[in-house]
Amino acid sequence: MTDAATIPGPIDPPARLLMGPGPISAYPSVLRAMSAPLVGQYDPFMTAAMAETQELYRGVWGTRNDATLLIDGTSRAGIEAAIVSLVRPGDRVLVPVFGRFGHLLAEIAERAMAEVHTIETEWGQVFPVSVIEEAIVRVKPTLLALVQGDTSTTMNQPLDEVGAICAKHGVLFYSDATASLGGNAFEADAWGLDAATAGLQKCLGGPSGSSPLTLSERAVEVVRSRGRVEAGIREPGDASAADFVRSNYFDLGMILDYWGPRRLNHHTEATSMLYAARECARVLLLEGRDAVIERHRVAGAAMLAGVQGLGLTVFGDLAHKMNNVVAVEIPAGVPGDEARAAVLTDFGIEIGTSFGPLHGRVWRIGTMGYNAREDAVLTTLAALEAVLRRFGASVPAAGGTDAAADTFRAA
Ligand SMILES: Cc1ncc(COP(=O)(O)O)c(C=O)c1O
Repeated sequence: MTDAATIPGPIDPPARLLMGPGPISAYPSVLRAMSAPLVGQYDPFMTAAMAETQELYRGVWGTRNDATLLIDGTSRAGIEAAIVSLVRPGDRVLVPVFGRFGHLLAEIAERAMAEVHTIETEWGQVFPVSVIEEAIVRVKPTLLALVQGDTSTTMNQPLDEVGAICAKHGVLFYSDATASLGGNAFEADAWGLDAATAGLQKCLGGPSGSSPLTLSERAVEVVRSRGRVEAGIREPGDASAADFVRSNYFDLGMILDYWGPRRLNHHTEATSMLYAARECARVLLLEGRDAVIERHRVAGAAMLAGVQGLGLTVFGDLAHKMNNVVAVEIPAGVPGDEARAAVLTDFGIEIGTSFGPLHGRVWRIGTMGYNAREDAVLTTLAALEAVLRRFGASVPAAGGTDAAADTFRAA
C-alpha cells in the first residue's frame, strides 16, 4: 500500500514566463477554457463546439476546406496523420530539409514506407523556390512535404509560390506550420496547400496536445480512396480499400467520418483540448488574424533589436527569420546551460536551448502568442542582461531594453 505521506501534493507549478521556442505561456482564457466542465462526446453542445472549432480554424488557416479539424495529440500526431493517410507504401515523397523538423517529416514518411527523397540546405537558410521545383521535376514525387517555420533554425520557408508549382507537376503539397501558424502569414487556399498541420503551443497560445489540420478536396479524395471503417462499427456499403491507411488512430478517413455529419465513432475526442483549441482560434480571430501577425512581427523585431542591443550575434538569414523566434550565439566564455538555468531559476524565465549542429552554440528566444507583448520582451531582455554580466560578458547597460522599447515605440 502507498504510504499517504509519500503521495505528492496537488500540482502547483512555479510562476514562469515561457520565452523559449515553445511551449509558451498560454493565454489565460485558454487555461480557463480547459477547466470548463466535460460533456459527453455526442452531447449536442459538444458536436456544436466541434463544428464551431472547424469554422474557427478555417479562419485561422485561410481556407474554405470542409475537411478542417483537430487531431488529438501533439503536432507530430497531425504530421503523422497527414503523411500516413496521403502516402501509400512505395510512393515517392520529396522533403526539402532546412532544419530538424524537415528530418522529422522524412522520418515519418519513411515509417509510412514511402520512397523518401530529401534535398538539404545549410541550417540558417531556406530554399529558393527554383531549387524545390528542380527537385520536383527530378524526383516526380506524389507528395511534397515542406516545413514552413523550422523552429530549430528559426527560418521561415516562403510557401506562396510552391503550391502553383506542385499543381503544375501534379504533386500534393503538405506543410508543417506548427511553429509559424498564427504568427506569420499562412494562406492555405491562396497558396495551394493540399494539407497542413500545426500545434497550439507556439503562436496559437495554447498547450501542446491538439493538432489543427486542414485538407483540400484533392487530398480528401486520396484519403477517401483508401477508406476502411473498422469492424464493429462498419456498415453495409462501407468501402474497404486494399491499400487502406496503415494506422488506425491516424486514419484521416475515419477521423473525417467522426467529425463529419456521420459522427461515426472513432476515438473519444479530448474534450478539454478541444476547448483549448477552440479558445486559441477564438482569441486570434477576435483580435484579427492580421493584427496578431503584426503583433508577432513587432514583438519579434523588438526582441531582435534587443539582443543586438546587448551585443549578441544573431544566427541565420535574417531576411527569412520567423517573426516569433530568434537564435542568438552564446557569447564566448559564457557557459550556455548554466546561464540559461540562471535565467530560469533566478528570474522565472525560460529561454530555449537548441538541437543538432546548433546545440551549445545558440539560445532560442521566442515571442509568441500571449507572450508576444512588450512587458514580456523587456523583462526577458533585462534578465538576460543581468545574467550575461554575471557570467562575465561585457554588455551595454540597458542596451537590450532600450533598443526593444524603441522598436515598440516606433511601431
Ligand atoms: C516545426 C515543428 N514541427 C513539429 C514539431 C513537433 O511538435 P510536437 O512536439 O507538438 O509533437 C515542432 C515542435 O517544436 C516544431 O517546431
